[in-house]
Amino acid sequence: MNALSCPLCRLPLVVNSQGVGCEKHHQFDRAKEGYFNLLPVQHKHSLEPGDAKIQLQARRQFLQAGFFEPLKTHLQMLLPRSTKNLLDIGCGEGYFTGAFAEALPAASIYGVDIAKAGVRLAAKAAKSVGLDSRLVYSVASSFDLPVADGSMDVITRIYAPSKDAELYRVMASNGLLVIVAPGEQHLLGLRRRIYREVRPHQTTPIPEGFRLIDQQQVQAGLVIEQPELRAALLDMTPFAWRLSPELRGDIVQKVVTDQLDFVVTIYNKI
Ligand SMILES: C[S@@+](CC[C@H](N)C(=O)[O-])C[C@H]1O[C@@H](n2cnc3c(N)ncnc32)[C@H](O)[C@@H]1O
Ligand SMILES: [Zn+2]
Repeated sequence: MNALSCPLCRLPLVVNSQGVGCEKHHQFDRAKEGYFNLLPVQHKHSLEPGDAKIQLQARRQFLQAGFFEPLKTHLQMLLPRSTKNLLDIGCGEGYFTGAFAEALPAASIYGVDIAKAGVRLAAKAAKSVGLDSRLVYSVASSFDLPVADGSMDVITRIYAPSKDAELYRVMASNGLLVIVAPGEQHLLGLRRRIYREVRPHQTTPIPEGFRLIDQQQVQAGLVIEQPELRAALLDMTPFAWRLSPELRGDIVQKVVTDQLDFVVTIYNKI
């Protein structure tokens, strides 16, 4: 674990008996679930930044049921086998991060998310399958990554925000950046029921310092037969905040048939 850097002074973090620390004696203890809290209080703009616990638990329940498996497999296949260090930005509860660790048995995988509840769930899962020695989770912001310059061969960003300058700084020369965003058809049926006006998803501009290599689409049908998984889908997305109790009840009661549509864009560092 040599790619983490101190969030206070940027010096390398070295493993010690309690967690990790830098030469200037900034110390970050390992939580019992195995993750590090590398988000300094002064960088925390709210008490519980990022996705709420209920949202993350719903995401865990929905993803564990396998609905996003086509995307997971697609991403696993496109990762270069030579990857040494991969960073997953906005890793949430770690469904994809864990899948990257499985696909790359020799790589060190770093997951960061600003939501402690997500990182905690992710780290617990890594520990339970014995992946915690090379799957390192930290609570941190993607706008100020506690990661060494030029250390990552691959950075993945699935539905999460980031800052171009930080992506550029931590990426190794020639490294690959993989960004996943929703496509036009993604959950269109549900969006039509929920929003008066369905707005097209915004296209992601090319991050500064990167060159577009390829864009791929992953599409699959979605049929959700279990009511509790329909509720989980609603709870894991921003939909939840806009729904009237009537519409929510209506959606949870009947089988949902819809479309998944993901756009996977691959860049490399210029
Ligand atoms: C829709 S979730 C996606 C999670 C995961 N990538 C997945 O696909 O399952 C977006 C995640 O980005 C995180 N997030 C939001 N702002 C962030 C920031 N500034 N730095 C790091 N993570 C952030 C949220 O806490 C949330 O877990
Ligand atoms: Zn330090």
